[in-house]
Amino acid sequence: MNNRTFTIIKPDAVAAGKTGRILDMMIGGGFTLRAMRMTRMSREDAEKFYAIHRDRPFFGELVDFMTSGPVVVAVLEKEDAVKSLRELAGNTDPAKAAEGTIRRLYGTNVGCNAVHASDSDENAVVESGQFFGEEMK
Ligand code: CMP
Repeated sequence: MNNRTFTIIKPDAVAAGKTGRILDMMIGGGFTLRAMRMTRMSREDAEKFYAIHRDRPFFGELVDFMTSGPVVVAVLEKEDAVKSLRELAGNTDPAKAAEGTIRRLYGTNVGCNAVHASDSDENAVVESGQFFGEEMK
């Protein structure tokens, strides 16, 4: 599935009214939307999604933030999708992200950084599966 990746437009960006601009950047960057919906993550959803970060000091803060308001989850398709979306998203820390990237434009800090982008093809499959299940098979 190296032609698909998974993204979350996070609560900060949705609340700031940036959903349309971010989707436009993704589509303008050559991605096709394969699935998308707005949802509100439960604590259970967020704890499962970020299970790999469970032992990090920021885990509680991360779950609080991701459950603080609606998010937009989507599956995106493009050649070399994971790498391409991570480039478009920019560094996890918006202050370190390159000019013109989504996080540089719309992120606030390392926690409130506007978007999630899968970090591997394997995680893209797992993460898409958590929100879109059978639709993606
Ligand atoms: P994301 O790509 O969604 O995956 C893990 C998230 O953890 C990451 O984006 C950041 O938003 C968040 N994160 C990483 N480091 C920190 C930190 N030091 N404090 C708060 N959140 C963090």
